[in-house]
Amino acid sequence: MLCGNRNGDLICLMCFSVMFAGVATEPVRRPPPTFEIIEKGNYLNFSASAPESTVPHCWKYVFQYRKCNEEQFTVYANEDDGWSVQVQYDAACKYIVQVQAKYDTRYCGEIEQDSDVSDPVYFGQNGDPNLPSKVAMIAIPVILCFCLIVAIVLFRRHKEKFLPKVPTPSNFFKDMFDSNKEMTKSLNVGEIYVPNEEVVEEVHVEPTTSHLSEYNQ
Ligand SMILES: *[C@@H]1O[C@H](CO)[C@@H](O)[C@H](O)[C@H]1NC(C)=O
Repeated sequence: MLCGNRNGDLICLMCFSVMFAGVATEPVRRPPPTFEIIEKGNYLNFSASAPESTVPHCWKYVFQYRKCNEEQFTVYANEDDGWSVQVQYDAACKYIVQVQAKYDTRYCGEIEQDSDVSDPVYFGQNGDPNLPSKVAMIAIPVILCFCLIVAIVLFRRHKEKFLPKVPTPSNFFKDMFDSNKEMTKSLNVGEIYVPNEEVVEEVHVEPTTSHLSEYNQ
């Protein structure tokens, strides 16, 4: 092996010292901040815990959120914001929010490292975008039917109020029709239809049947 022979010893020593130096200067990786989502009217407030750090101004929180499976948005919060940020809230959307604490290595040196990205926190539910039209499609016919039924029931119950019973006109019309019929009958009978002859024929038939019956006996 490399560390077994003489020439390799120096290289080996260098290797190990670099490794240990690396371990020693490796900044402590912090857990991600905890945060909660508070609904405030049309806004959501992502409110996170302050970093446990003597230099909070070196930290910046990066919130990444997604709503209704749309593309991802990024918003930032720092000490001055109270580690919180407000975003527009669409109540018909489910929000998925994650946060990461970032250390400003540019001004604060490489003493600390960014935290991991937090587990997602969910808020709200995806609504059906066609829900209003579906509701309207079902509700409007149902309401119309209901109104119609109520109207019919009320009309039947208070029929007399809407159509007061006046017996004279109906009787009058009835009489008119009847008298008309009689008039047409009396007018037509003599001119076109002569039932008297038929009666005569029927009269003719009866004697034959009676005759037949007599014959059978
Ligand atoms: C978010 O809510 C917290 C706690 O109620 C509050 O302290 C903070 O000011 C709010 N942030 C914004 C941006 O309104």
